[in-house]
Amino acid sequence: MKKINILILGSGGREHTFCWKFAQSKWTNRIFVAPGNAGTADLATNLDIAVNDFETLKRAVIENKIDLLVVGPEDPLVKGIHDFFLEDPLLKEIPVIGPQKHAATLEGSKEFAKAFMSRHNIPTAQYGGFTAESIDEGYVFLEKMKAPYVLKADGLAAGKGVLIINDLQEAKDELAKMLLEQKFGAASSKVVIEEFLSGIELSCFVLTDGTHYLSFPMAKDYKRIGEGDTGLNTGGMGAVSPVPFADQKFYEAIQENIVKPTIDGLKKDDIPYVGFVFIGLIRVGDTPYVIEYNVRMGDPETQVVLPRIKNDLVELLMATAQGKLSDIILELDPRSATTVVSVSGGYPEAYEKGKKISGLDTHSESIVFHAGTHLNQGEVLTNGGRVLAVTSFGESHKEAVEKSYEILNGINYEGMYYRKDIGFDL
Ligand code: AMP
Ligand code: GLY
Repeated sequence: MKKINILILGSGGREHTFCWKFAQSKWTNRIFVAPGNAGTADLATNLDIAVNDFETLKRAVIENKIDLLVVGPEDPLVKGIHDFFLEDPLLKEIPVIGPQKHAATLEGSKEFAKAFMSRHNIPTAQYGGFTAESIDEGYVFLEKMKAPYVLKADGLAAGKGVLIINDLQEAKDELAKMLLEQKFGAASSKVVIEEFLSGIELSCFVLTDGTHYLSFPMAKDYKRIGEGDTGLNTGGMGAVSPVPFADQKFYEAIQENIVKPTIDGLKKDDIPYVGFVFIGLIRVGDTPYVIEYNVRMGDPETQVVLPRIKNDLVELLMATAQGKLSDIILELDPRSATTVVSVSGGYPEAYEKGKKISGLDTHSESIVFHAGTHLNQGEVLTNGGRVLAVTSFGESHKEAVEKSYEILNGINYEGMYYRKDIGFDL
C-alpha cells in the first residue's frame, strides 16, 4: 500500500475526529476537509466547498489527487454522491466510504427503513405509512393504537420530524398538518405512525464492505439540551462509550437479531453498501428494538467511538472499500471515553455566532474536538450551535467525564453552555 490523500466531507465534531484519527495513520499523505472547521484546519487543508456541490468537489478531488473519500453527514449520501463518483469516468476508481443512494434511503425514508426491517424480521415498533390520499386510514390507525402516539415525517427533517403526542385528537391534528399543510415540507408528504416503545436508547455502529462487517463499540448519546434529559432535542450534547447497561447477553442479542439480519438483508435485497451503519436502538425489557437507521457515524458518538479504536483508520477503510474487512481484527481501548459538547447560548433555538473562544491550548490527554468553529486571522470563533466536544478517557465514565469538565472549565466564549450530567444516569 502507498500513502494516500484523503478527503473528508463535513464540518462538525465527527469530521474533526475522523481527521484526528487519519492524522495518526502511517498511510496518510495529505488530508483535506470540505468545508471543515478551525479544528480540522490544524491537521488538514480545509476546502471551502459545500458537501452537496458535487461538481466543485469533483474538481478538487482531481486537482488534489484524492485516493479516498469519506462522507461524514447523510445529506450528500441521500443525494447520491457515491453514485456520482461511480458514474464519472474520472472518479469511478476512487473509493467512497458511505453508501450509494439506494442504501442511503434507509435514512432518507422512514417507510423504506420500516419495510426493510419487516421484510427481514428485524425487531422494531409496529407501524403504518400514510399519505394525503390515505389520511382517513391514518386516523383509523391512530384510533386503534394506544397513547402516546409517535408520528414521523418520512423524509430527512434535520432531526425534527418526530412527534410524540399523548392526546388522540392532537395526534390527528398533527397528522393533518404534516400531510396536508407540509409541516415539515416535502419530508412529511408521507408519515409513518408507530407504536410507542418505552426503554433506554443506545447507538450501535457497524462498518461494512457489503458482505463482511465489524461491530464498533456502542455508545449512548444525550440528545436533550437540559440536564436530567429535559428541554428541546439537539444534535447531541454528549456521549459515553462503552455503554454500561449493554452487557454481554444484550450485546449478543443485538448482533444476532439486528446487526446480522441487517447486513444479510442488504445483500439479499441486492443493495450495495460500503460504509458505516448507525443503528439507533432502544432496550425494552431485555430486548433490543431498532428505532432508526442512519447511514453514517453519529455525532457526538464518533468522538467517543473512534478514539477507542486502536487500528489504523486508513487500513480499516481501505479494507472496507476493497471488500476485505474479514482480514481485519478490531482492537479496542478498554477504557471508557466520554465527550461533553459545549454549545452557543440559545441553541437549539436562535443563537449568535462569531464569539471569540479562549483557553483552547490545553495540555492533557483529553482531546478538544471542534464542531462549530471558524478560523479568522488566527482567532478561533464560534460558528455553529454545537461548538466543541471534549473527549476524555478514564477507568470509568465518571472518571472520564470529570476530566472533560476540568478542560471545559478553562475554555470560554460568550454564551457558552454545556450539560454537567453526561453519563450520570448510568
Ligand atoms: P428518530 O428520528 O426515528 O430517531 O426518532 C427521534 C427520537 O424519537 C428517538 O431518538 C426516540 O427518542 C424517539 N422515538 C422514535 N421512535 C420511537 C418509538 N417508536 N417509541 C418511543 N420513542 C421513539
Ligand atoms: N447523535 C445522533 C446523530 O448523530 O444522529
